[in-house]
Amino acid sequence: MTALKPKVLIARRAPAAVVEQLSAHFDVDFHDGEAPLSADELRARLQGKAGAYITGTERITAELLAACPDLRAVSTMSVGYNHIDLAACTARRVLVTNTPDVLTETTADLGFALLMATARRMSEGERLLRDGLWKSWSWDFLAGADVHGTTLGILGMGRIGQALARRGRFGFNMNIAYHNRSRLPADTEAELGARYLSKDELLRQADHLILVLPYSAASHHCIAAAELALMKPTATLVNIARGGIVDEDALAAALREHRIAAAGLDVFEGEPRVNPALLSLPNIVLTPHIGSATMPTRLAMAGLAADNLVAALTGAPPPTPLNPEILPL
Ligand code: 8YV
Repeated sequence: MTALKPKVLIARRAPAAVVEQLSAHFDVDFHDGEAPLSADELRARLQGKAGAYITGTERITAELLAACPDLRAVSTMSVGYNHIDLAACTARRVLVTNTPDVLTETTADLGFALLMATARRMSEGERLLRDGLWKSWSWDFLAGADVHGTTLGILGMGRIGQALARRGRFGFNMNIAYHNRSRLPADTEAELGARYLSKDELLRQADHLILVLPYSAASHHCIAAAELALMKPTATLVNIARGGIVDEDALAAALREHRIAAAGLDVFEGEPRVNPALLSLPNIVLTPHIGSATMPTRLAMAGLAADNLVAALTGAPPPTPLNPEILPL
C-alpha cells in the first residue's frame, strides 16, 4: 500500500510545470480560474490541506489559520508577504516561504522604466498623440525632467533598492541618496555611491524619489501630505512597492496643485481598483502591478514557490523560508 500524499491547494492559475511538479508529490486541488478565490472559498478549499501555494492575492489571516488546523506550509509566489500574518503562522508552526532574489533585477527594470516614463511624460504624450492632439512643435511641448545626472532618492534599500541604485549610478550618472530602517555597510554604500539621509532630508533632496520599502503597519501612508510637502515642486515620485505606502488622496492633491511634478505608480491601495482621483490626472503614469511581469521571472518565481512547498512538506530545507525558526516541521 502506498502512503497517502499530503493534500495541497494551488490557489491561483499556475504554470503547467508547477502543477506537474506539485502533483508528483501531493494530492493537488487546483483552482484554475482567472479570479482569485474569495476569503470564504479559500477557507473552504483549504480544509484538510497541509500546504497552500498562493500569490499576493490570497490573504492568510490568523482567523483563516484557526479555521484550517491541518495547514503546515504556505508558499507565496511573491517576495512581498504583507498578505500573510507571519506572526500568526509562526505561532501555529505554519512555515511560510516567499520568492526573493529571482525578481530583483526585473522589478528594478520596471521601476526604472516607470521613472523614465514619468520624468519624460511619456504616457501623457502617447494619450495626446492617440487623441489626435499632436498639432505642432513648440519649445516647451511635453518638456519634462532630466533623469541623468540628477539625484535619485531611494526609500527602502533592500535588494531591489540596491538594484535601482546600480542602474542610477552606473547607467545614468545619478547621485544616489537613500533612507532605510538600517544603514548599509560602508563598503556597499561606497560601491553604490549611496549617501544615507534621514527620511525628511531624502524627501527634500530627491529629484526622483522611488519607493521600494516593504508594506507594514509602520509604513502605511508613510508618504502623505506632510511628506509630499517636503518634496521639490519639480520632483517625481515612483511607487513599485505597495499601494498602501502612499496616501493616494494626498498624492492626487499634490499632483493637481503641481506641488510635485509627476508620479508613476505600479501599485495601488485598493488594487485592482484605482482611486478615481488619480485616474483623471495628466501628470501620472499608471501600470497594473507589473513589476515582476516578464515570462522568465514569473516562471522563476513560480518554480521557486513550488520548490519551497515540496521541500517544506517532504522534510527538506526550503530554499527561502520566512520563519525558519520553526523548522523542522
Ligand atoms: C507579484 C509582487 O506580481 O512579489 C511581489 O511581492 O508584488 C509581485 O512580484 C505579486 O505579488 C504576485 O504574487
